[in-house]
Amino acid sequence: MNLEDPVFKILAETAAKEGTEIYVIGGFVRDLFLKRPSKDIDIVVLGNGIDFAEKVGRKLRSTVSVFKNFGTAMLKYNELEIEFVGARKESYRANSRKPIVENGTLADDQLRRDFTINALAISLNPGNYGEVIDPFNGLEDLENKLIRTPLDPAVTFSDDPLRMMRAIRFATQLDFKIDQVALVAIHTQKERINIVSKERITDELNKIILAKTPSIGFNYLFDTGLLHLIFPQMVKLYGVDTRNGKAHKDNFYHTLQVLDNISQTSDDLWLRWAAILHDIAKPATKRFEEGHGWTFHGHEDKGARMVPQIFAHLKLPLNDKMKFVQKLVLLHLRPIVLAQDKVTDSAVRRLLFEAGNEIESLMLLCQADVTTKNEYKVKKYRNNFELVKQKLKDVEERDQLRNWQPPVTGNDIMQTFGLNAGKEVGLLKNAIREAILEGEISNNYQEAYDFMLEKGKEMGLNPLSE
Ligand code: CTP
Repeated sequence: MNLEDPVFKILAETAAKEGTEIYVIGGFVRDLFLKRPSKDIDIVVLGNGIDFAEKVGRKLRSTVSVFKNFGTAMLKYNELEIEFVGARKESYRANSRKPIVENGTLADDQLRRDFTINALAISLNPGNYGEVIDPFNGLEDLENKLIRTPLDPAVTFSDDPLRMMRAIRFATQLDFKIDQVALVAIHTQKERINIVSKERITDELNKIILAKTPSIGFNYLFDTGLLHLIFPQMVKLYGVDTRNGKAHKDNFYHTLQVLDNISQTSDDLWLRWAAILHDIAKPATKRFEEGHGWTFHGHEDKGARMVPQIFAHLKLPLNDKMKFVQKLVLLHLRPIVLAQDKVTDSAVRRLLFEAGNEIESLMLLCQADVTTKNEYKVKKYRNNFELVKQKLKDVEERDQLRNWQPPVTGNDIMQTFGLNAGKEVGLLKNAIREAILEGEISNNYQEAYDFMLEKGKEMGLNPLSE
């Protein structure tokens, strides 16, 4: 096995000198075989992990961070983060209710890890340096693209229920299948996810969302029933109703399609969240209108209002990222409505005015939202989107509406007419904004000022200086 970085030789030398057996284990080994670059190295020590880390730290002149409660120690060396842990007999997870039992053998330690592909170890010891120790055929599973547990999955998942999420996360990131027995075990034990903190669950969920094809993970989450427990609002999107022979589309699978689509054009986690939530209020706003069919009036508005509670429920940040998602959910229909119709300058101006800096993200979301199989419609949307984009560019150059600042301020209005703050000032401000958005006047001081004088006169106001 090829361990290129010179740090492995240094680790091996220290191990030989101290007479301690050590192995590289876990994600680093897995990623080595998958040719995914990795900067995190886990070393399992047959003995005391912290003591050994301190010896390596002295040799490398690196500071060692010790986590006594977890029985681990970590040091940074160049770009690498190296973590040391004593081989364990009991459950691997330090935060499980079971005590940490060290002094295990390598085999004990491997047996307590989550998946066969994460239990691979490479020896750094004199007799067999570089040898791969693979007691559960992890290499074969890598080959066959399979997520499998070393023990009976019921035991592995019960040791740490977060592993149910991890199984799905790895399957999504690596495009692997989950072994059938493990899948059944997840289904059976799903309720145990409730003992895991929301933050850790969401951490895994975000990793699924950031994968190349997030729908792989969401399908697993849905099919095992985990999604019902961790994110029930999304499950409500599932299903099709038919009345008078009219069916609506399944909004769950539509949402997954939109999410996969956006993942091809953007790596932004929050834009991907906007895709997940864009139709979230469809179940709550669904109506059947006689003679017309299914409608979801106001789902964008209600959806935007649902975003904060969903973010709070999932312990996602309640900050500007949430506001960004809210804004996109609120506006997600706008470009498509535009693209269905005649693309007028004033509609484009309004869109730019409301979307501001989020306009590019909104356009991406909207394009991802086109999931129709009807080739004719797809073509029509695509052409119109191009037209909207072109017009957006023109309007932007001409009118600079992206970060709108009124060319004539409320203060200007008050001073001109000798008004105090009040209804008239608001009316005039609105009238000026409307005139600019409608294209009656340009977005500059002089035209806005002249318009204000004219409008003021219509309202019976006289400028002070005249
Ligand atoms: N591990 C485990 N059970 C867990 C978490 C981790 O058995 N619930 C073990 C696995 O052997 C895993 C190793 O600890 O490979 C390191 O865990 P972690 O750093 O969380 O994951 P990686 O496998 O390194 O993968 P990634 O960095 O992509 O999260």
